[in-house]
Amino acid sequence: MWIFFIFTGFISIDCGIPANSNSVDVDTKLTYVSDDQFINTGVNYRIASKYVSSSLMKQLLTVRSFPIGARNCYILKSLSLGSKYLVRATFLYVNYDNLNKLPIFDVHLGVNYWDTINITRENGDKAYEIITTAAADYIQVCLINKGLGTPFISGLDLRPLETSTYKAASSTQSLVLYDRLDLGASDSLIR
Ligand SMILES: *[C@@H]1O[C@H](CO)[C@@H](O)[C@H](O)[C@H]1NC(C)=O
Repeated sequence: MWIFFIFTGFISIDCGIPANSNSVDVDTKLTYVSDDQFINTGVNYRIASKYVSSSLMKQLLTVRSFPIGARNCYILKSLSLGSKYLVRATFLYVNYDNLNKLPIFDVHLGVNYWDTINITRENGDKAYEIITTAAADYIQVCLINKGLGTPFISGLDLRPLETSTYKAASSTQSLVLYDRLDLGASDSLIR
């Protein structure tokens, strides 16, 4: 499926890198921008060097963490109302906060529950994807503190989809993906 052939409208965010900086993913060649322009709360961390390897996606090297507030939201702007988007949130804990406590927290799209992020392995990275229709010209991705550890995030991606794809995703219903789809065409890269 070549639905990502045109990169227009991609939002690729490397959470936790310094404001106004960016990183380029070696595999996808996509440029990931700082999350600073999408949120104004949280604390940046870099994962310990012992977890860094050349095969680790650059997006996973830093996180933004939210020790304060029950609800912290990213705002993805300049979308078109009624269009369909895939939103992907990525998490790698690797004890970035030195607390050795695997957190459990929720992610919401706006006010709607999306998923529970249950970090069960310190060094497991996990991507959560959802297909949704923009009910405005922006989408909010919110991290919700449930009292079970500090919410954090490593990466956030938004990809426009053709309106004809995923007909089950309507303005009233979003589609959570339980298996990661291979959306990267012939080279199997998830862009
Ligand atoms: C988190 O995952 C663990 C291990 O799979 C499970 O035992 C636990 O019930 C989960 N907690 C929540 C709140 O989902």
